[in-house]
Amino acid sequence: MSERVLLQIKDLKKHFDLGKNKSLKAVNGVTFTIFKGETFGLVGESGCGKSTIGRTIMGLYNRTDGKVIYQGKDVHKLDEKGRFSLYSQIQMIFQDPYASLNPRSTVSEIISEPMIVHGLYKNKRERLEKVYHLLEEVGLNRDHANRYPHEFSGGQRQRIGIARALALDPEFIIADEPISALDVSVQAQVVNLLDMLQEEKGLTYLFIAHDLSMVQHISDRIGVMYLGHMVELTSSPELYSNPKHPYTKALLSAIPIPDPDIEEKRERTILTGELPSPINPPSGCVFRTRCPAAMDVCAEKTPAWQEIEENHYVACHLFEEKRQDSPSLKIKEKQHY
Ligand SMILES: Nc1ncnc2c1ncn2[C@@H]1O[C@H](COP(=O)(O)OP(=O)(O)OP(=O)(O)O)[C@@H](O)[C@H]1O
Ligand SMILES: [Mg+2]
Repeated sequence: MSERVLLQIKDLKKHFDLGKNKSLKAVNGVTFTIFKGETFGLVGESGCGKSTIGRTIMGLYNRTDGKVIYQGKDVHKLDEKGRFSLYSQIQMIFQDPYASLNPRSTVSEIISEPMIVHGLYKNKRERLEKVYHLLEEVGLNRDHANRYPHEFSGGQRQRIGIARALALDPEFIIADEPISALDVSVQAQVVNLLDMLQEEKGLTYLFIAHDLSMVQHISDRIGVMYLGHMVELTSSPELYSNPKHPYTKALLSAIPIPDPDIEEKRERTILTGELPSPINPPSGCVFRTRCPAAMDVCAEKTPAWQEIEENHYVACHLFEEKRQDSPSLKIKEKQHY
């Protein structure tokens, strides 16, 4: 199993210092592993810390505490040379390809830049051949090389972003909401492209999205985040058929089911209350202020991150209690679900 591990995140914390003794706990103790060749979906509402995790993995942010171990190495302890080489193995794709592509550079210049920085394909002709090859791989063609980003559609621009991310033949791609800004019809095309590239190149993806429906079909495993914490993690089919955490259940019940009979009959969990601030998160379980199943203990203790069934991790007092077979709990669960 350990040979399959690409990345280990151990109790990772990233707090932003806001001055005046205040800090924003963007990521507050997250633990998970990414295996080689898989697509790991990371979901949760806006502001829960998804992008911060991506950036901290890349070493773009220093961690506050915890560890990011990539291929056995602590990324925050790498020297300059190690960091530089890490950047050729891990690449990012962003939500807004327009904002992440320099408008004054041609597509060829954009895709060549990482090669020049890393001293690869030093011969100009060779580099241009690589650019053409990458353009074809992402479903564009060599005629696009001398055009500028504004001459492309959103989907095509995302393809340029993907070509640039592939320029150094990385093994791991962090895709931060890569399809959220695209038309629904184009989303599927970009997802199919990512899928095909993964198969061809054996890539590993961390796929970030705010909506569970977006990651369902792409991901092998999914982690659900809430206010700086991971609350549940399991395989994609298991998460949809057997969700445990009340927050996951609420997210799932927000996804419409195309069959009107099922849609009409099913019960919904609608979250009430506002999302608390990560500057002053609730005590104990951060979800308790919006949780339909909250108990007294939830205000007192942070629930432990535990594997409650094989490969199914949850941080929730309902399941800590369940292990002790609390009868009161069963009643509570029935009432709410
Ligand atoms: N550089 C920064 N300085 C201070 N606070 C930050 C910084 N970057 C992010 N934050 C805060 O950290 C929290 C998590 O932000 P992050 O961008 O990781 O969320 P996200 O889950 O990616 O959200 P979205 O779905 O909107 O992209 C937010 O409250 C955000 O305001
Ligand atoms: Mg984000």
